[in-house]
Amino acid sequence: MRNTGKKKSDSFKVIVLDDEEITVKRLTKGLSAADELDVEGFILAKDALKEIKKSPPDIFISDIKLKDAYGLDLIDEIKATCPNTVIILITGYASIDQAVKATKKGAFYYLAKPFSLTELRKIISEAIEFIRSRRQKDLIMEQLTRKGRLGDIIGSTPEMIKIFKTIKQIAPLDCNVLIKGETGTGKELVAKALHLHSKRSKFPFVSFNCGGFTEELIANELFGHEKGAFTGANSTKLGLLETASGGTVFLDEIGEMPLSMQVKLLRVLQENTIFRVGGTKPIEIDCRFVAATNRNLDKMVSEDAFRQDLFYRLKVVTISLPPLRKRREDIPALATHFAKKAAKKFGKATPMVGDDFLDALVDYPFPGNCRELEHIVERAVALSRKNILTAEDLPPDLWLLKEPENKKKDTAPLKQLELDYIMDIYKKTGFNQSETARILGISRTTLWRKLRQFNIKSKKHHP
Ligand SMILES: Nc1ncnc2c1ncn2[C@@H]1O[C@H](COP(=O)(O)OP(=O)(O)OP(=O)(O)O)[C@@H](O)[C@H]1O
Ligand SMILES: [Mg+2]
Repeated sequence: MRNTGKKKSDSFKVIVLDDEEITVKRLTKGLSAADELDVEGFILAKDALKEIKKSPPDIFISDIKLKDAYGLDLIDEIKATCPNTVIILITGYASIDQAVKATKKGAFYYLAKPFSLTELRKIISEAIEFIRSRRQKDLIMEQLTRKGRLGDIIGSTPEMIKIFKTIKQIAPLDCNVLIKGETGTGKELVAKALHLHSKRSKFPFVSFNCGGFTEELIANELFGHEKGAFTGANSTKLGLLETASGGTVFLDEIGEMPLSMQVKLLRVLQENTIFRVGGTKPIEIDCRFVAATNRNLDKMVSEDAFRQDLFYRLKVVTISLPPLRKRREDIPALATHFAKKAAKKFGKATPMVGDDFLDALVDYPFPGNCRELEHIVERAVALSRKNILTAEDLPPDLWLLKEPENKKKDTAPLKQLELDYIMDIYKKTGFNQSETARILGISRTTLWRKLRQFNIKSKKHHP
């Protein structure tokens, strides 16, 4: 049942599914009057599902009780096939219970029969407004990140752009690279990008973490061993440097490598040969070395904790990744990127990243850098039941972590007491504003004002 499809440029595809033909007719006809809607009606769920597999609609309007399916189960199927479709459920068996279930499953709206076309149109225009703003935000983000990214690495601050240039410039050269940066700043990501942009990209990228191993274990891992090299060495084992042949070896946490092992590694870098443990024959290797550290190697060299000659060999080129708190402008693009990544991982629709979500992160110091932001966003995507991430989806302790900063601001002693008291109750109520206000004997507005005054990001209230 298709209403003659004049294909419009900024049109929205709408599917109507109801087991009563008359309802389908009424709705398709009624909605098609709107120029921007391209409406198609179905009586059987299986036909509607076939259609959405071919081309995902923007909006799916469905009855709950159908001939060949149950609307609430249908939501799962629609979500799995086209996660970005907005679902509106209609039913003659209205109950709060089902409404809650439906919205929990990801329906945009729930409408009880009988309803007027005007009511439905109003909901549809809300849905369209939502879709439009999502499209626009996506577009802006895409434009922003097209410039501000290199593969999976997001960044548009001058420092990051410079790093992207360096990566592209030195990746094809076979020089060793040392990547410096705090934990979670993307060192491994950069190492992989160096590999991907090099002529070694078709060969393996092998990562080895030097932390916490003895010299023997590292030698065994990197160089392999000959049969009979030690008890238990029943056969010859190739080390990582041999298996990485042609590719890139990423030596993570190079600062943790024991001094005795550093000598051996230096020899490998100088001569491009290794000896398997227990072996006497030098074996030629062909790999590029990229090392990473979150420690201050210069200082370690001056304290004789790291060999200077190895240090110079490794850092033919150095890339220093800035901590996230020094490039806060990148947080929105990073958060959007992580939301997309998490949604894909969980098979959910990609939510928008709300302004208040980002606002709440403004002062957060991100000791764990991008990885920490990724975890925060991932958690929010996992828990959120809405199409947009809001401040409510942030972990409550984020507010606590910001507390010391608030305290710094020359707070008068009495004010400090007030803040401590409010925070104490606020925490105890699990950041419930109504409950906090009730216990404190103040109105919600007063509480809200006080939270603002103390620069505590309040959870936005969604009625
Ligand atoms: N600029 C970035 N753009 C997109 N994702 C990033 C960026 N930086 C880091 N990430 C993501 O953050 C996580 C941590 O990055 P990565 O493992 O490269 O950090 P690291 O510096 O090696 O951390 P550590 O020192 O703890 O090993 C990864 O999931 C990575 O994809
Ligand atoms: Mg790492």
